[in-house]
Amino acid sequence: MCGIIGIRNEGGDVVPWLVEGLRRVEYRGYDSAGVATLVEGHIERRRAQGKIDVLEQRLAEKPLSGAIGIGHTRWATHGLPIERNAHPIATARVAVVHNGIIENFQVLKRELEALGHVFETETDTEVVTVLVTSLLEEGASPLTAVARTLGRLEGSFALVFLFADEDDLLIGARRGSPLAIGYGASTLALGSDALALASCATRVSYLAEGDIAVLAKGQVTISDAAGAQVERLVVPISKAAAGVGKGRYAHFMLKEIYEQPRVIGETLAELIEPATRTTCLPAFPFELGALTRATIIACGTSYHAACVMRYWLEKLARIPADVDVASEFRYRAPPMQEGGVAIFISQSGETADTLAALRYAKEAGQHIIAIVNQPGSSIAREADIVLSTLAGPEIGVASTKAFTTQLAVLAVLSVAIAEARGALSREHAATLLGTLLETPALIEEVLGGDEHISRVALWVERARDVLYLGRGTAFPLALEGALKLKEISYIHAEGYAAGEMKHGPIALIASDVPIVVIAPRDGVLEKTLSNVEEALARDGRVVLISDAEIIARFEGRLAYGISMPRSDPFIAPLLYAIPVQLLAYYAAVVRGTDVDQPRNLAKSVTVE
Ligand code: F6R
Repeated sequence: MCGIIGIRNEGGDVVPWLVEGLRRVEYRGYDSAGVATLVEGHIERRRAQGKIDVLEQRLAEKPLSGAIGIGHTRWATHGLPIERNAHPIATARVAVVHNGIIENFQVLKRELEALGHVFETETDTEVVTVLVTSLLEEGASPLTAVARTLGRLEGSFALVFLFADEDDLLIGARRGSPLAIGYGASTLALGSDALALASCATRVSYLAEGDIAVLAKGQVTISDAAGAQVERLVVPISKAAAGVGKGRYAHFMLKEIYEQPRVIGETLAELIEPATRTTCLPAFPFELGALTRATIIACGTSYHAACVMRYWLEKLARIPADVDVASEFRYRAPPMQEGGVAIFISQSGETADTLAALRYAKEAGQHIIAIVNQPGSSIAREADIVLSTLAGPEIGVASTKAFTTQLAVLAVLSVAIAEARGALSREHAATLLGTLLETPALIEEVLGGDEHISRVALWVERARDVLYLGRGTAFPLALEGALKLKEISYIHAEGYAAGEMKHGPIALIASDVPIVVIAPRDGVLEKTLSNVEEALARDGRVVLISDAEIIARFEGRLAYGISMPRSDPFIAPLLYAIPVQLLAYYAAVVRGTDVDQPRNLAKSVTVE
């Protein structure tokens, strides 16, 4: 949440790079944007309410130059998303960009106001600039002023500082929110992630919790939370991060939906030995076969992947499994028995609630597995073992390929745990892994139905409310379908376990409420189909997602059928995710919403 960047360029103007960097992290928030540079030693800013396009217009009207600068794209937490509250927040002495929340800002603000300091914004960030400024005025050096200010702050943050009259100095600090250092031919930079830095740097290192980085005189000096000078591993920025574009697609979301066969294939290739159909997971620092319980935690779409995994673990591994959203889990603070495993799923690896839940589970003596798309992320760093989804950068705010690659990893992990516990024979495991390897080709087939799904969306788009139903592993997919539709088309949608319909939601059935039923050929198919009949008997209009033979059974009584290839039920969640993604996508396109950057949302939710 909020994208931040700071660049020092020995070769000249940084503003185009700042703007390009901000564009690359615009998915983190797009309420307002701004840049600040030094012009003859003075801090100069350009800020604008709205997206980076508006900031660019502002820069065209009133250009800004400078060889050192900072930039920000905001997801508002404190204060309206108006220009006055847009970052960089600055005094005459210092400008700062901030991702995160300063939790004790009100206490600090009152204290500073009592000393006569005047505040100009409603942001929590301004206490940082005012505190640093007061320390600079007392004669502290920039680094001392920053370090002493950080000592007063509570909450989670990544901050980048630019100082008046210091044309070769940027200071970055991280506590709770991510911050990376970029190294280029003529540049040193700080940014929220490698994506932000890829336009001006070729190598990157990630700051650890509590680190302060000083970028000056072509050098980077990092000190850790205890004040000791440290080195952090520098790695090349991946090609995937460097070359982010929409290609021939109208939106990143559609491109990412179409990337799924490839990225699922690449993810599975790291986890399954195709010749022997055995798992090839990294060595676990604990005994998979000795686990007594699994707790699976995540937020949003990643939580839906967690829900699917519970079905797989219980069925295949016969291990007790709990699943929870991180924001509830962390404050419920459930008792946990030693010997359990806690599995955390996160595309960004930075979701604040998921990270806090991980820390709780660790304290409670659980083994920690992280499933992340960002290997350098906080969740990855704090886990005992990391299994990576190889989805590549996901720019569309609505998660698609991250979800299905999570499912791919979780499916393999479920098989591995089941085998280790002796609950699954080698032969059965080999069959399941072989089936998983078929998913990329089957998803290609599903994508072939794209045009038909776009026609179904023309009808769904006219609805005010939509119901999604499923049983078994299709239940979390119903939740995911409803979430996808809500977040990008703004149509109200609810996902239910199909068996729950008669306990209340059946009252909602009406001819103008589409009911999307996800019905793979699994052990509960006939039960789901009975629920379809119940809906039809009440004049419900059903979109049935199932295979052609099942759809044919309804002999024209459905509003629409979406035909799926026949497959083993084990891989159904990966296949059936595709039509629900496409349905939401096309409904949003017809509605004319901002598909890749839906209102109020942001990716990488680093505040709770
Ligand atoms: C929805 C979506 C969100 C994320 C959620 C968790 O399309 O993308 O619901 O799934 O914010 O994010 P991560 O996976 O980064 O922890």
